Amino acid sequence: MAFSPILSKTAQRACSSFAQRFGREPKWLARAPGRVNLLGAHVDYSDGWVLPGAIDRSVWVAAAPASGDTTTILALDLEDEGGFLDSAGGQARFATVPALPSLLTPEKAHRPPLTWLDYPAGVSWVLTHAGLSAPPLDAVLTGDIPIGAGVSSSAAVEVAFLLAWQAAGEFELERLQMARLARRVENDYLGVGSGIMDQYASLHGRDGHLLLLDCRTLESQPVPVAGGTALLVADSGIRRQLVDSDYNDRPRECAEATALLRHRLPGLRTLRDVGLEDLEQFEAILPEPLARRARHVVEECARVLAGANALRQDDLVTFGNLIRASHESSRDLYDVSIPALDTLAEAAWSAEGCYGARLSGAGFGGCVTAFVDEAAIDGVSTAMDEAFERRFGRRPETFVCRIGDGARLVHL
Ligand code: GLA
Repeated sequence: MAFSPILSKTAQRACSSFAQRFGREPKWLARAPGRVNLLGAHVDYSDGWVLPGAIDRSVWVAAAPASGDTTTILALDLEDEGGFLDSAGGQARFATVPALPSLLTPEKAHRPPLTWLDYPAGVSWVLTHAGLSAPPLDAVLTGDIPIGAGVSSSAAVEVAFLLAWQAAGEFELERLQMARLARRVENDYLGVGSGIMDQYASLHGRDGHLLLLDCRTLESQPVPVAGGTALLVADSGIRRQLVDSDYNDRPRECAEATALLRHRLPGLRTLRDVGLEDLEQFEAILPEPLARRARHVVEECARVLAGANALRQDDLVTFGNLIRASHESSRDLYDVSIPALDTLAEAAWSAEGCYGARLSGAGFGGCVTAFVDEAAIDGVSTAMDEAFERRFGRRPETFVCRIGDGARLVHL
């Protein structure tokens, strides 16, 4: 098969593996990127502001309609972890409409650990429940996003399959509707109380820009990333799935803090509506850890807005200091960091040419993202490697990423 030269090697591999496995060419190729989030830690589910960007690492899905009533997915990079239906050797089959709703219920899927199959199965479930069709597909899934590392490989899988099923089901969704549906896979199918940031960023990413997203109105403004800077991602190698981490405690704690504050601030919808002055006045009514959680959210929202302004004015030092403060608050007030992430962040902060660094995504494991001067990439990377090795006896996986465009579908 001759490929267009604009297709990346990973995309070409998805297509050639499809042809090998299914004996015909794929009809569609969907690409969905992962994301970094420079500010706005754990505030999306409190309707706050976040500052993510899509990255130049993606999930690819090559797909075509299946002839029978079964969806078959071959996952090229994944060891099969024993999916709950018929899956073996990185390949899984599951029946889609009409059998799916009765076979795969959220109750069945909630049990951790999840396997990669839960994500496409969840997309199919959500589409079916939204009254849209998810016709049987033959598909190959591959990508170059580190899995479960806080750069949203799971949102990318959800978005790539949504795009493929949109083409197969011949319906048209707005990008925002797609982000909402992909979030429902997490909330309603997998039982993770996460916000919309990851799916939104994967769908709306814009080359060279972060997105200042208001998670209540779901409107975003692009903020250009300054030239001469780079994003360095260091992966601690420590993995924890959101479904079996303490992640879900945090949305619950935020809701509890909101309910208590509402006695003093009637009409309060979420912690995003609490100003710093309100918090200082009423914080004492919150028991621990709710007071620390609320303070993190209120201050982090303010940091995001201040950070976007600083970036617009090319004030990289202020922007970097806010990124560092975001990590410190995630560590001290929100309790989502771990020593491995603190070690990487602290090493980056003290390296020449690093503006700021913080844990990526949910925390509890995964990566630290450092915002650095382009000329300092090697120095910051070495500082993180050495500090990590001294403490943990091994090196992190480090890579530089660019902020790229959001997901797209190619008709082949
Ligand atoms: C995960 C969730 C997001 C967000 C981040 C923390 O990535 O999926 O919705 O809550 O953690 O900022």
